[in-house]
Amino acid sequence: MTTSWPAPAKLNLFLYITGRRADGYHNLQTLFQFLDYGDTVGITVTDNGQIQLQTPVTGVPEEENLLVRAGHLLYDYAVRQNRIAPSCGVLLSIDKKLPMGGGLGGGSSDAATVLVALNALWQANLTEDELAALGLQLGADVPVFVRGHAAFAEGIGEKLTPANPIEKWYLVIHPGVSIPTPVIFTDPELPRNTPLRSLETLLKCEFKNDCEVIARKRFGEVDRALSWLLEYAPSRLTGTGACVYAEFNTETEARQVLEQAPQWLQGFVAKGQNLSPLLRSLRGI
Ligand code: C5P
Repeated sequence: MTTSWPAPAKLNLFLYITGRRADGYHNLQTLFQFLDYGDTVGITVTDNGQIQLQTPVTGVPEEENLLVRAGHLLYDYAVRQNRIAPSCGVLLSIDKKLPMGGGLGGGSSDAATVLVALNALWQANLTEDELAALGLQLGADVPVFVRGHAAFAEGIGEKLTPANPIEKWYLVIHPGVSIPTPVIFTDPELPRNTPLRSLETLLKCEFKNDCEVIARKRFGEVDRALSWLLEYAPSRLTGTGACVYAEFNTETEARQVLEQAPQWLQGFVAKGQNLSPLLRSLRGI
């Protein structure tokens, strides 16, 4: 039997870079919220001890595919700990809606969904902490998707404090370019020394993203998309881009702006969610 699991998008409602670590990674202060929009992962449990992929992605070797890597990571850990039989296997598939290099956390969310759903289906009984630690090995953004609650993140994104930002409506625009995360993080002009502030203070300030200035400078498409959105509502970059989003109090307002978008702007409207669709599925709500 195949079951379907949501892998929602995230937005960074704000993102500040507060320093660079010796290993080159950047310390951040960011606020994550999920969207009721994303990919769907199909999972069929098998008994052949293999992690198989039904929907290969052109240009991505199977061993690099995050779905497969998440499956192997959980399998190896759970077998080593005698939590599952070595004969446990899985056939994975994906219905992809989230763009790569979009700043919506698509790959990280797909990986988290595999970890969380397989843990339940294989009855491996790993704790949320164990799953988040495994997830961190796949990417800095994976733990927040594993835990499934909107959160204020610090460190490289792994120190999470649950938060409850207002669940607004968003118009998310994909400017038609893909931005590899390292392109932004290695730019010499990236602001890297924003002072550390408490969440309480940050919530009172206007929300900003330190990566935005670099994404706009290096990618004309991002600059044009954001300039267009800013005519209508407060708007920002998410993550390291390329997507930008505008916030609204109602779905109607967001849809009205989308209807006026020129052809070169592709977008969707979604609602912010503090409890992730993945966690809702897991809890059956
Ligand atoms: O975590 P992820 O693998 O998606 O990050 C991709 C790259 O982005 C890292 O290899 C690193 O160069 C950069 N990065 C960073 N600081 C972070 C997250 C990512 O410098 N907090």
